[in-house]
Amino acid sequence: MFPAATYADRRQSLRQHLDGGLVLLMGNAESPMNYADNVYPFRQDSSFLYFVGLDHPDLAAVLDLDSGEDTVFGDELTIDHIVWMGDQPTLVDRAARIGISRTRPRADLAGSIAATVASGRPVHVLPPYRHDNRAEIAAMLGAGFEPSLALIKAVVALRSIKSDEEIAELELAVDLSVDMHIAAMKMARPGVTEAQIAAEVERVAVAADRRPSFPVIATVNGEILHNHYHGNTLKSGDLFLLDAGGESPLHYAGDLSSTVPVDPRFTDRQRTIYDLSLQAHEMALATVAPGTPNRDVHFAAARVIVEGMKGLGVMKGDTDEALAAGAHAMFFPCGVGHMLGLDVHDMEDLGEVWVGYDGEPKSTQFGLKSLRLARRLQPGFVLTIEPGIYFIPQLMDLWRSQKHNAEFFDFDELDRWRDFGGIRNEEDVLVTADGMRVLGKPKPKTVADLEAVRG
Ligand code: GLY
Ligand code: MN
Repeated sequence: MFPAATYADRRQSLRQHLDGGLVLLMGNAESPMNYADNVYPFRQDSSFLYFVGLDHPDLAAVLDLDSGEDTVFGDELTIDHIVWMGDQPTLVDRAARIGISRTRPRADLAGSIAATVASGRPVHVLPPYRHDNRAEIAAMLGAGFEPSLALIKAVVALRSIKSDEEIAELELAVDLSVDMHIAAMKMARPGVTEAQIAAEVERVAVAADRRPSFPVIATVNGEILHNHYHGNTLKSGDLFLLDAGGESPLHYAGDLSSTVPVDPRFTDRQRTIYDLSLQAHEMALATVAPGTPNRDVHFAAARVIVEGMKGLGVMKGDTDEALAAGAHAMFFPCGVGHMLGLDVHDMEDLGEVWVGYDGEPKSTQFGLKSLRLARRLQPGFVLTIEPGIYFIPQLMDLWRSQKHNAEFFDFDELDRWRDFGGIRNEEDVLVTADGMRVLGKPKPKTVADLEAVRG
């Protein structure tokens, strides 16, 4: 974990954003697969990790904004636990390592919160995303409890700006993610299965005593944006897309995407679309700067895609009008990227309108509505850059039948690409005072680099 002062400073900064009452931070419990003692790998809540740092189940923390007292609620291990799991530091010792000297039994939490509610002081909670935490908060605050907007805004403000310590963790996460990707690039060959590659990608993370930061996407159907099916065998002529990342030791996330041909070399058609997608990616990277709205980064990539598609005879008409109409979403129906941190979609549990839009309304247009981060970039933001080009036959057929954005397409030319699949590159970047920096060691991304890695 980070030094105690890091967590104490974060809690102190949080206090400066809020007026009074209690902050209740719920840690996560174990998550059973099929019976209580057979559990999924434990993942602590990210805001709990950020302010409290304790990576164990069944904890809660209460920060008293008026007295300045912080308390961890949790139970010391019994001899039964120690027989089962071995000796462990006491909760008192663990709390001391994150700068908190008060611990109380977990069973005292409800009474402590009830006393605060009875006294009329506010209790600030974040939106729960696990049912057990939601039920426990509802039992304490009433079924109609509302998450605290003041707390949400304060946490977003703090967690959005990554400190040097956090950036070092993110670099470790991205370095591991690059290793996971290079392993996959070397393996992608006719006859290998998606499942074998997904297993190797996970093996690289687990062998480093780390974990993937989200379920691995390893697919020959890259046009399906979040495709967790691993049942295909790679064959000559396919493209293979990997979207995978690893966690750092302190659970910061890496998130990268790569696309390679299953054959040793790209075909001319594959190279044409690959180079266009890489050009959109490089344009997006070049647009990232402090003060620039990430919406502009999104549209810089989309513009390259529209111009490229016009060059291929697939699109036509005025580029600005096509972009305003959302015609590019035929190929790029998602956003250019998202915040990255302790979560792969950082702070998504706190609400996209606060994390990505600073309270501004979001577009409802197909494509643009999926942009998770549109607000002005600030030094210290870490985000993904991941424009892609996807040929989605069902979307082609739908727009053609509806004549949707028909003035911008030659649907017959477009149909020639219907079985192409999808391509995405993804890198993780830090916004700096004067531009941006790609985090981690370099990931092969040009055609030449990819063909060289694959040998
Ligand atoms: N790489 C997973 C995602 O961005 O959703
Ligand atoms: Mn991503």
